Amino acid sequence: KSPSSSPIQFTFGLWTVGWAAQDPFGRATREALDPVESVHRLAELGASGVTFHDDDLVPFGSSASARDAVIERFRAALAETGMVVPMVTTDTFSHPVFKDGALTSNDRGVRRLALRKVLRQVELGASLGAKTFVMWGGREGAEYDGAKDYKAAYDRFAEGVDSVAAFIKERGYGMRIALEPKPNEPRGDILLPTVGHALGFIATLEHGDIVGLNPEVGHEQMAGLNFTAGIAQALWQGKLFHIDLNGQHGPRFDQDLVFGHGDLLSAFFTVDLLENGFPGGGPRYEGPRHFDYKPSRTEDVEGVWVSAAANMETYSLLAERARSFRADPEVQEAMQSSGLSELAQPTLAEGESPAALLETAGDLGPEIADESERLAARGYGHVHLNQLALRHVLGAA
Ligand code: GCO
Ligand code: MN
Ligand code: MN
Ligand code: MN
Repeated sequence: KSPSSSPIQFTFGLWTVGWAAQDPFGRATREALDPVESVHRLAELGASGVTFHDDDLVPFGSSASARDAVIERFRAALAETGMVVPMVTTDTFSHPVFKDGALTSNDRGVRRLALRKVLRQVELGASLGAKTFVMWGGREGAEYDGAKDYKAAYDRFAEGVDSVAAFIKERGYGMRIALEPKPNEPRGDILLPTVGHALGFIATLEHGDIVGLNPEVGHEQMAGLNFTAGIAQALWQGKLFHIDLNGQHGPRFDQDLVFGHGDLLSAFFTVDLLENGFPGGGPRYEGPRHFDYKPSRTEDVEGVWVSAAANMETYSLLAERARSFRADPEVQEAMQSSGLSELAQPTLAEGESPAALLETAGDLGPEIADESERLAARGYGHVHLNQLALRHVLGAA
């Protein structure tokens, strides 16, 4: 499990650096950016690719010829810089038509329009070589529980995702869908609010084999959850298809800070998992390290590029710290006495049945009290292990 020697693949959404910083309380503080300029600037900073919503590149409602011209110019910028497009996604949230949802709007006409918009973006993504199609259902939800028949909404959501997956298979695009959970914002409550909800949903799909997740740091933290633990389960289930990295300070509005500018220790363990894998081996994340952040509203255009670079710098510094953490003999010893490798050992012996365990291990009378006392006496040293991690993060080890 030695870390690969090839450079880390960093990608950015065009909508991240391109955000003009309008918020619900005030208008934009920056000019909109030309996507072609973003491709060039990000390439210069060391990114390897960009991702985008249909409307980030081609303005909504463009004529066919205008669309072709925009895409041609974008392709030229990619060719010139060597930048790739590993993922694309659809804007099914900005236009007022999506105010009650896209694939789960109560209005069937809206659902049919949304599906067409998504399928057209699948086609464009495939033509650019994208391997992942992200579906973030920002407007799929409600402000009032009485406003949705949740059963019907989940039926329509499953129908929508399965339709997109069937289309991908039929066309032979070799693309996979990554659902992005978020608990709220812009809707009061969004369907598929967390990684766990989304994993449960995927298991019900007809084409779930090509549907996985695009978890975002801040979204899980908005729900008060542990991001690293969430992506660990997705990885264990073979469903971590893509990732949105950023920073967030706990349960509040979606902050979209630079990666590591929220919970730094959590960011360290996220990078440790992505770069070094599980301590005992197992499935690894192979996709791009994708940033979905927003340059703060206080920043001018130079600040935009400073913040973009900060994401990659933070990740790279943490990757370096995570390497030194795993290589440290004191850490390895602490992991050993914490029982990490013992956890990899199956609980039952080979061929041992649960009934046999009951029969041979003795009765649950007074002996179990003694046995429990003995087992309970152990100290696991998890605090020591965490302090060693902290020392590596702070460069003090
Ligand atoms: C958000 C989401 C979006 C999605 C994007 C891709 O909170 O606004 O994170 O940025 O990631 O729409 O589908
Ligand atoms: Mn966010
Ligand atoms: Mn987000
Ligand atoms: Mn996101």
